[in-house]
Amino acid sequence: MTCILRTVGLTKRYGGKTVVDNVDMSIQAGDIYGFLGQNGAGKTTTLRMLTGLIHPSAGEIELFGTAMQWSKGKAMARVGSIIEYPGFYLNLNAAENLEIHRRMMGMGNKTCIDEALATVGLTDAKHQKVKNFSLGMKQRLGIARALLHRPELLLLDEPTNGLDPGGIKEMRQLFLDLARRRGITFLISSHLLGEVEQLASKIGIIHGGRLLEEIGSEDLRKKTRHCLALKVTDEQKAAFILEQRLRTTDYVVSGTGGLRLYAYVDRPEQVSAALAAGGVGVREMSVSGDSLEDYFLKLTGGEKFV
Ligand SMILES: Nc1ncnc2c1ncn2[C@@H]1O[C@H](COP(=O)(O)OP(=O)(O)OP(=O)(O)O)[C@@H](O)[C@H]1O
Ligand SMILES: [Mg+2]
Repeated sequence: MTCILRTVGLTKRYGGKTVVDNVDMSIQAGDIYGFLGQNGAGKTTTLRMLTGLIHPSAGEIELFGTAMQWSKGKAMARVGSIIEYPGFYLNLNAAENLEIHRRMMGMGNKTCIDEALATVGLTDAKHQKVKNFSLGMKQRLGIARALLHRPELLLLDEPTNGLDPGGIKEMRQLFLDLARRRGITFLISSHLLGEVEQLASKIGIIHGGRLLEEIGSEDLRKKTRHCLALKVTDEQKAAFILEQRLRTTDYVVSGTGGLRLYAYVDRPEQVSAALAAGGVGVREMSVSGDSLEDYFLKLTGGEKFV
């Protein structure tokens, strides 16, 4: 897989305080990378470095396989971003705001404006002044602006901040759609565990400036999936019984009498009865696996995510 963005030892210090601490992150083509961290964790500071708004104190950033150029390098033309709240000229309409950006980006063809507005569902609001926009519409316009030059990578800092649940859902749909249909790669920061969980294909957890973990969502799901952990007298025979009598293949044999069963977690009595009837003794049986929230709590040393 192509690595689109990579940092090595990325660090930012303000005065004596290290606010981004030796971060190694990597984003592959097609990822929706959820950058999860609590308030003050260092998300915005990291994104500011990735977009060239501030210089790192140490470390390297590689974009599309080349070291980032600080003086508007070529790679930045392939990146769109919204860092904190997108600012607009409130007395101008949506199209006029995008037109200013189009000229700034040196884009020749005006059709990109209608295209970007259509993509985010703002075609009907094209001539409406931005001061009359709802927060959700402003966020959409921010995305339209970030998309204007048809970037391959979008860096979005808390794009759903302040939106109601309906607005958050619409945004999520939009991101998934852009990822699937246009192949855009995303880095989206958030302090909401639930939101990242529903959207991300890969999650990076930042805490106190340090990247505690980077994990694919499938691996995370496996790690946090509940199961019945069994110790039995004969695991091969037990597996046969699970398939024949309980009609499930959702288990893993872990050897030396161990077996993890992901089905029947809420019906352990049926499992022990079926195994006993088949002549397999159950030595131990317990529910195992953390909830996603427990998992993050452990990582962050007990500090809660919302
Ligand atoms: N320009 C600056 N000067 C000094 N300290 C700063 C500066 N910018 C950020 N910080 C500090 O760096 C830390 C990380 O801030 P940052 O804004 O990156 O966090 P965040 O994860 O984006 O938080 P939030 O969820 O609140 O947006 C904070 O302690 C903040 O006070
Ligand atoms: Mg922030």
